[in-house]
Amino acid sequence: MPKSLSRLLRREQFAFLARDRSAWGDHLDRVRAFLGEGLQSADPGRPLLILGAGPGLEVPWALAPPGTTAWDGDPWSRVWTALRHHRWPAWVFEDLTGGLVQLEATCRRAVVEPWSGRRREQAIAKQRLAGLLPSLQPDPGPLRAWIETHRPGTILAANVMGQFGVVADTVVEAAFGGPPWDPDPEREDPLAEALAGWTARAIEAFLQVLCESGADLWLVHDRAVVFGEGPLALGPWEEAWPRQLRVEGPSLEASDALAGLDPVTVLGGRALEPARRDRWIWPVAPGQRHLIEALAVRQRD
Ligand SMILES: C[S@@+](CC[C@H](N)C(=O)[O-])C[C@H]1O[C@@H](n2cnc3c(N)ncnc32)[C@H](O)[C@@H]1O
Repeated sequence: MPKSLSRLLRREQFAFLARDRSAWGDHLDRVRAFLGEGLQSADPGRPLLILGAGPGLEVPWALAPPGTTAWDGDPWSRVWTALRHHRWPAWVFEDLTGGLVQLEATCRRAVVEPWSGRRREQAIAKQRLAGLLPSLQPDPGPLRAWIETHRPGTILAANVMGQFGVVADTVVEAAFGGPPWDPDPEREDPLAEALAGWTARAIEAFLQVLCESGADLWLVHDRAVVFGEGPLALGPWEEAWPRQLRVEGPSLEASDALAGLDPVTVLGGRALEPARRDRWIWPVAPGQRHLIEALAVRQRD
């Protein structure tokens, strides 16, 4: 991964770890229990892969079989893991979407005139980028190649899929030197829409590689981000996450962390079925709560 991108992931990680974690207890208990179950039910004779392993806040490494491999693009993640868990696992530092290098280069091409090196006016650069993004197709080639070589029996995706869009936003913001988004959420923003399309394609390609792996999958991810301070609770399971949210008061807004893609639909369409599913609310920061989704998925017999 080029330095610019690994630096960006490292910065995101530092910001994540610097947050006040006093309200995270319930989330950490639940995510560790879920991923721990995945680690314990894995066939110890086959390789195990943890995607988005990060600093290991959510991963109970004590339960991981000795040959477990971690994957995270943040270059500091293995050091954090060693400090926290006293483990130095095999590690892959590649981009899981396979598309960030191309995204970054495309942003640069839209923002700066290649022939003069001059920055374009923001409105023109935004229009150019919105026009270029639909032709980009992220391809998680390094992940596919690793899986073909090592044939893991179990794969954990530890809160990484919902980050693809966040990282893509940050790549675009870095190229523009600040957020280029329309501040009025009521107005159409073709660039934001085009980038959400890129994110949806990245998530779908990622899920497709996981489906084709033949491995048991333990997926935890942000399903939605809810902004505002009003009361929020969860009703009984509903396939459509907005229907499961019990929101009181007008001051809450929710955004889809998976850019409109439903993992259960994608997986179900590929002959996989969730063996277990759960959702809970993670109070990440004042005024910002994440709807977390956990899916254990097995190949259908
Ligand atoms: C919310 S954190 C996950 C925390 C981690 N599960 C833990 O136990 O601490 C998301 C992780 O995904 C990684 N990440 C995000 N996008 C990535 C990408 N495209 N390729 C590789 N890693 C990525 C980040 O570096 C970060 O460590």
